[in-house]
Amino acid sequence: MMAIAVNLLRRYTPVRLRRAVGEVRTARKKARLFGALAPLVPAVNDMFDGPGSLEEFKANGDEFLRIYRDRCGLRADERMLDVGSGIGRKTIPLTQYLSPAASYEGIDVNAKGIDWCAKAITPRFPNFRFQQIDVRNALYNPLGTCAPSEYRFPFADGSFTFITLGSVFTHMMPAEVEHYLSEINRVLGAGRCLISYFLLNDESRRLINGGKSTVDFARPDQQWATTSPERPEDAIAFDEDYVTGLYRRLGLKIVRIDYGSWCGRANYLSYQDLIFAERIS
Ligand SMILES: C[S@@+](CC[C@H](N)C(=O)[O-])C[C@H]1O[C@@H](n2cnc3c(N)ncnc32)[C@H](O)[C@@H]1O
Repeated sequence: MMAIAVNLLRRYTPVRLRRAVGEVRTARKKARLFGALAPLVPAVNDMFDGPGSLEEFKANGDEFLRIYRDRCGLRADERMLDVGSGIGRKTIPLTQYLSPAASYEGIDVNAKGIDWCAKAITPRFPNFRFQQIDVRNALYNPLGTCAPSEYRFPFADGSFTFITLGSVFTHMMPAEVEHYLSEINRVLGAGRCLISYFLLNDESRRLINGGKSTVDFARPDQQWATTSPERPEDAIAFDEDYVTGLYRRLGLKIVRIDYGSWCGRANYLSYQDLIFAERIS
């Protein structure tokens, strides 16, 4: 009886009323999950860069604040650069950790994410700044005017003490990653960088070939592999020795590699593989 009444109500409630009820529910959920930071959180439909729910958005931000703080030793007064800052999922919890003496710069090729963060975060936390860079990416900025393999980051040498890229090199081609790493090396002073990858090594190749991976890379025996020959940037994995060789060439010392669960591993830290490295200048 109750189910029939609910169904009838659903059918005959005007669309606008239903929408309004949905909006109130979402606002309540945002307030419950994020408290006073709720206005910084975009609508789920605008989360173009991964999460499918408010819960996922929050869990990922909280997870990475723990990783930055506990595994990378991020201090509250650092100068931080987030390349590919997206729509702020990893940024929002940092507003509660970095002090006003610290600085956070977010750059991204995607205007939507940058516009949201500049409007929602910077007015409340002026030491958090965001810039759109018009660099091409088949997935996130197909009409960008600058090639990623030629782009110079808009910062002076040695500007930062901590640089991070979350799920960015998993969408870039080898020559582009090589160039970005050299830019990271240039703008990093004596400091550390944390970058996520899909790394191909004996274990991940075995799991991919055994059908255990959550990402379906074709020909994982190569130096790099993709899920989509038509648009390789959809998801890209790199041979681990190739990547560690790039760090070595630049003089970036790898402190630790924390492998991820993406390929179906039983023991992992996060979803993607994380390379934590330092530059001693
Ligand atoms: C999967 S999303 C991750 C976003 C954010 N790092 C996070 O973890 O929530 C990948 C991001 O990288 C950005 N991106 C792609 N290519 C880029 C490039 N060449 N330079 C800077 N950002 C880039 C995309 O626009 C997108 O926001």
